[in-house]
Amino acid sequence: MPENLIVPRHIGIIMDGNGRWAKNRGLPRTAGHIQGAKTFKKCVGYCRDMGVECVTFYAFSTENWKRPKAEVDAIMKLFSQYLDDAMKMTEEDAKFVFLGDPEPLSDELKKKIRIVTDASAENKGIVCCIAINYGGRDDIVHAVRSIMNDNISADEVDEALISERLYTKNLPEVDLIIRPSGEQRLSNFLIWQAAYAEYVFMDVLWPDFGKSDLEEAVAEYSRRNRRFGGI
Ligand code: IPE
Ligand code: IPE
Ligand code: MG
Repeated sequence: MPENLIVPRHIGIIMDGNGRWAKNRGLPRTAGHIQGAKTFKKCVGYCRDMGVECVTFYAFSTENWKRPKAEVDAIMKLFSQYLDDAMKMTEEDAKFVFLGDPEPLSDELKKKIRIVTDASAENKGIVCCIAINYGGRDDIVHAVRSIMNDNISADEVDEALISERLYTKNLPEVDLIIRPSGEQRLSNFLIWQAAYAEYVFMDVLWPDFGKSDLEEAVAEYSRRNRRFGGI
């Protein structure tokens, strides 16, 4: 890795482009999701090797339920596989956190999520967050509901309190958001948390995303001048 690299504490990755990757090869979209799941597994290792403290993967948005049922079912089946991979990674000291509302997921997935979360809760290695049925707006609604359910008065509500009630509570601030696939939007990912993140949009499709792409994104991040409103 080149010198002068500033390694972000927390990277968010929008795993996009699986469908186009498959289409380019004349394969069904599901083949892209399968390949994308493999990339996810490798990417956790690249982040760990680089010294990243926390990485959040956007796996399924609150809007992705709009897709044809067959595709949603195939993606849900793949999550089972993601979670089996995650289970193996807990032995390598990775800590798993799930972001999003688990309610509409199958009982099997909910159970696996609980097992992986509990098995890795005390792990001290890289924190790997997986956003499933995650929406930034839903995250905020969920936080507001929890504040109101606790009868907290309006004058006690501040940014710190809202941050504590989000799915990302206790995680470091998001420093860098990487979106492969050429799209330049957040698509409802970490909208509160990414207020001061740097964005790197890349043309590579997620299944092709490799170590050199991560390094390129971090090199670009290192060149940015983060001012946080100062001078
Ligand atoms: C990302 O890839 C995976 C999910 C959103 C679940 P896409 O399936 O969105 O791939 P494209 O954008 O159609 O290429
Ligand atoms: C964002 O990708 C969601 C995930 C990668 C999980 P989408 O493919 O759903 O986003 P849009 O529809 O292009 O905005
Ligand atoms: Mg997409």
